[in-house]
Amino acid sequence: MVDPAIDIDVDLDVQEILLAASQHDIPQLRRLIRGNETSGNPANVKDPETGYSPLHAAIAACEPDEEEEEEEHEPPVNGGAPNGVEPENKQATEHESMIRSGVQTVKFLLQEGAIWNDLDLNNETPGCIARRLGFTELYEMIVDAGVRAELLLNRLDGYEQLSDDEDEMEEDEEQQRGGSGAAQTAEAEAVPELVDAAAASSTAPAAAAAEPHVTNSRYLNSDLTFQNDRLLDQDQNGVMMAWESDIMARSAKKLLPTPGLRVLNVGHGMGIVDGFLHEQSPASHHIIEAHPEVVAEMKRKGWHEKPGVTIHEGRWQDIVPGLVAQGEMFDAIYYDTFAESYADFREFFTEQVIGLLDQEGKWSFFNGMGADRQISYDVYQKVAEMDLFEAGFDVEWEEINVPKLEGEWNGVRRPYWMIDDYRLPLCKYMD
Ligand SMILES: C[S@@+](CC[C@H](N)C(=O)[O-])C[C@H]1O[C@@H](n2cnc3c(N)ncnc32)[C@H](O)[C@@H]1O
Repeated sequence: MVDPAIDIDVDLDVQEILLAASQHDIPQLRRLIRGNETSGNPANVKDPETGYSPLHAAIAACEPDEEEEEEEHEPPVNGGAPNGVEPENKQATEHESMIRSGVQTVKFLLQEGAIWNDLDLNNETPGCIARRLGFTELYEMIVDAGVRAELLLNRLDGYEQLSDDEDEMEEDEEQQRGGSGAAQTAEAEAVPELVDAAAASSTAPAAAAAEPHVTNSRYLNSDLTFQNDRLLDQDQNGVMMAWESDIMARSAKKLLPTPGLRVLNVGHGMGIVDGFLHEQSPASHHIIEAHPEVVAEMKRKGWHEKPGVTIHEGRWQDIVPGLVAQGEMFDAIYYDTFAESYADFREFFTEQVIGLLDQEGKWSFFNGMGADRQISYDVYQKVAEMDLFEAGFDVEWEEINVPKLEGEWNGVRRPYWMIDDYRLPLCKYMD
């Protein structure tokens, strides 16, 4: 039985830590965090009423107090500026110094292993609060912490892969198309800033436990439903949706600016991007598609008879080595699969693209990682950019506004796109 006196002590500790965080009192925080002997990292305690962690508290405390703000705006009784300081300036200075101390506190908490993407009861991460309140510097600090954590997680996954059973790996790291890449779970308490990244996503443990886990093998064995505006798997996950047509059209035009080029598309889905690629009159148009029902639908629509089209039935992992062995080269490649992990994608561009893409060629991909939350999208853009750089690619991004999609998600298990702008990547070999 738990001793109630200990429980009260624990609660008091939590409240003291959160108070010190909101007061940006770093010496006190250091004392409380380092002197705490309970299990778990005290830098990640949570307020039971708000779900705030110390990071949430430190950032939320930077919001100017409304009452104080109103008082500042009231004209002084004698009409002059008291103490020679104009009220507006005074307010700005106070706010600036609050942000400064907030920055130092956030830095300290991250060094102590605070989780960058923990959720409060308002479904916000600390970075979401910083963004909502317009605190750019604090937002960027959390994004950078997310990038560091995700890069490290991805590297650790790589090490695990060397020793673990392959099926187990699949279970651990698959992610849904467009799902939050930041959703991977890490048991890495020892590494500062890297504890569990899972909470920030709709695939956080609580939600994930209730939902069937989407793996590539589960998906490839799943029955599909083809509708006019969407393609769903047996769990009602949106494999592809027609609202992405503008993105597909622009991607195709960037990849094939002139007729007569050679293109490879990985993942046919609803055939939207292939339709646009074909309109650009390529000299040859190869398509790799792994799902038997999608392949059947392609044939029903006569894709196998279109001029220059070659369909490769199977997973890219099995097809690409054969293409490389035959010496097939392309001027353009598009990659958009489903239920594959970031590690699969990284393998595609670090190991495979080089064997397929002409020296002057360009390639692109559907950039939906982390798109269920702006901060996850920003983190994954940077992670991808760094990995692309390491693999020898330059990437240019074009922003495309995505119209509001509210009605789109009826009948779809999970909205995988919740942000305003799509960032279209165009990659080429570095000079
Ligand atoms: C999101 S859809 C592609 C949508 C497509 N860009 C369009 O415009 O309609 C993903 C496609 O990738 C296929 N796929 C999934 N895993 C694959 C793999 N490992 N290799 C090849 N195709 C795969 C799926 O069956 C699905 O048809």
